[in-house]
Amino acid sequence: MEPASFWSSHKHQVRRWVPPAIWEAAHRLRLRASGGSTGGTGRSAPPVAAPPAPVVTPPQPVAAAPRGIDDIQTLHKFWRQPTPAGNVPSDYTGPTGRSEVLLKLIDDLPTDARILEVGCNVGRNLAYLVDHGYSHVEGVEISPHAVELLRETYPQLSDTSIHLGSAEDILPSLADDSFDLVFTMAVIEHIHPSSTQVFDEIVRIGKSVLAIEPPGRTSHRQYPHDVPQIFASRGLRLVSSQPMSSFPATANDTGIAIFSAYRFERAEPAAT
Ligand SMILES: C[S@@+](CC[C@H](N)C(=O)[O-])C[C@H]1O[C@@H](n2cnc3c(N)ncnc32)[C@H](O)[C@@H]1O
Repeated sequence: MEPASFWSSHKHQVRRWVPPAIWEAAHRLRLRASGGSTGGTGRSAPPVAAPPAPVVTPPQPVAAAPRGIDDIQTLHKFWRQPTPAGNVPSDYTGPTGRSEVLLKLIDDLPTDARILEVGCNVGRNLAYLVDHGYSHVEGVEISPHAVELLRETYPQLSDTSIHLGSAEDILPSLADDSFDLVFTMAVIEHIHPSSTQVFDEIVRIGKSVLAIEPPGRTSHRQYPHDVPQIFASRGLRLVSSQPMSSFPATANDTGIAIFSAYRFERAEPAAT
């Protein structure tokens, strides 16, 4: 006798002495193993979907209370600390992919070009430029601790003018057109919204501008400035805009990969 027909003819006797709960459970297991349905027709039936897994909501982190932007005194006090959280000067020493990309981005400039970095920290970019032949570089930096470390770390910058103070205080003291290039790297995003005169000053003292900045990050000390708009509205022409991720050197400096490099020149006066 075929096992299937034996089961068909005896299953009612078996069921009588099997406790109902066990019978039901065995029946379900058999169906699941055979991919069958509760219809029991013996024909192949569509698979039964497994019951949905219970939804377990993990404990949710408590959201930080939204914090307004810092006032400018608090902001500048932050930068002047010896070890501002996330911006400790000693973390800025050493060559990085971003300095390498910077050098490529300005390779059209002669090595005697006058170049200013606003927010130079310990000077790794400036040192890299000096190492590659650019001898007329200067920096502006608000942190005295970063400038102290710059002096200890980069002997090639021993004759370099580093203007210690905020861009707000220093830039007005520099002459019109005193630089062929003014550049920033992760600094415009930290310029307080009440300090837009800093952008006027950059345009006044620099014949061209390179801003290497992230897309509008926002926090109590990061402001989503629209970099192309800042300089276009001050009469500069955007001559190139390149994602930093397009340069292989950012592979060893992934933090900069989401930034873009915007290069601006003074717009030619319209022909009369
Ligand atoms: C994120 S770090 C970038 C440092 C450097 N550009 C680099 O890429 O290695 C920002 C720097 O800007 C400086 N900074 C921020 N606000 C400034 C201001 N208003 N004037 C001058 N420096 C400022 C900070 O002290 C810090 O050194």
